[in-house]
Amino acid sequence: MNILSVESSCDETAVAIVRDGREVLTDCIASQVDLHRLYGGVVPEIASRKHIEAIYGLADQALLNTGLTRDDIDAVAVTYAPGLIGAVLVGVNFAKAAALAMDKPLIPVHHIRGHIAANYLAYPDLEPPFLCLVVSGGHTMIVNVLDYTKMEILGTSLDDAAGECFDKVARVLGMPYPGGAALDKMAQTGNEHTYSLPRSKPGENPYNMSFSGLKTAALNLIHHAEQVGEEINIPDLCAAFSAAVSDTLVPRVEQAIRETGCRKIAVAGGVAANSRIRRDILAAAEKLGASVYMPPLKLCGDNGAMIGAQAYYEYLAGNIADMSLNAYATKSILGEAL
Ligand code: KG4
Ligand code: ZN
Repeated sequence: MNILSVESSCDETAVAIVRDGREVLTDCIASQVDLHRLYGGVVPEIASRKHIEAIYGLADQALLNTGLTRDDIDAVAVTYAPGLIGAVLVGVNFAKAAALAMDKPLIPVHHIRGHIAANYLAYPDLEPPFLCLVVSGGHTMIVNVLDYTKMEILGTSLDDAAGECFDKVARVLGMPYPGGAALDKMAQTGNEHTYSLPRSKPGENPYNMSFSGLKTAALNLIHHAEQVGEEINIPDLCAAFSAAVSDTLVPRVEQAIRETGCRKIAVAGGVAANSRIRRDILAAAEKLGASVYMPPLKLCGDNGAMIGAQAYYEYLAGNIADMSLNAYATKSILGEAL
């Protein structure tokens, strides 16, 4: 089954064609990052307009790259939530028009389920159940993937997402948007023990996390140093910050492995590209005898292929939309009615 899949929830317009949920035939992406960088973050209005400009050409390019025609496409899939509402709407409207014009089923895909499904592309033998640490620009959670379309959230950030904090701290340190990858690179040459940053433990649920205190502590440290004329050692601060984020995430993942008895741990989302988090997850899994699934960096960030991968399983589960499909800025990964 060839699925034409569309992703436009943030600042990448992406169209892919994925066969049977596992094989990427083509994955076309038009990134807007250079444009948003001028403003230090994503400007929603600009994102929507750029999606409109790029999306038709990308779909044509996807067909051209594979040599497939419209008749070879069996379904159209799209990220319908969550994301910047104007941006998601562009993809949803395009996908609805394409499905209607080609008379093919329309498959709605939750963006975070798509991130998790990137693992199916990287590891063709991976099947649920498995645990997944989801860390992106907008979401941080530990998910028990019971089946392809049945998930349980073990814990989540109660405030900021890890990616948001990476980007905010990087910005204050003068790194261009999105600064997560640059901060990661800088951290690799730093000493994490020079600065002390907090690891929070919010509330009753041991799997829940909080990052806003850590972000504020890092920003206060930088501003205080500026005020008293002290020079910050940027690599050391980046290393301390990355270590604090990883120390917030990875022990909870370890606990989830122990308590669920599930010995398969996957990572997903843009921040899953972080070298410190990857290293710590590998070490934790080795200690507990768990298998690790880490998609390559290009499948961690937003892309259309991950949407096509999840769409296949949504289709098999009967999750098909009609022309009343709407876009949503927020929606739970648990898959309540559309
Ligand atoms: O999943 P994603 O592409 O978009 C969302 O769905 O949000 O994640 C983007 C986030 C940004 O915050 C970016 O700075 C962060 O992923 N990121 C990283 C790294 N690479 C990307 N954060 C830390 N370390 C990295 N190596
Ligand atoms: Zn994403």
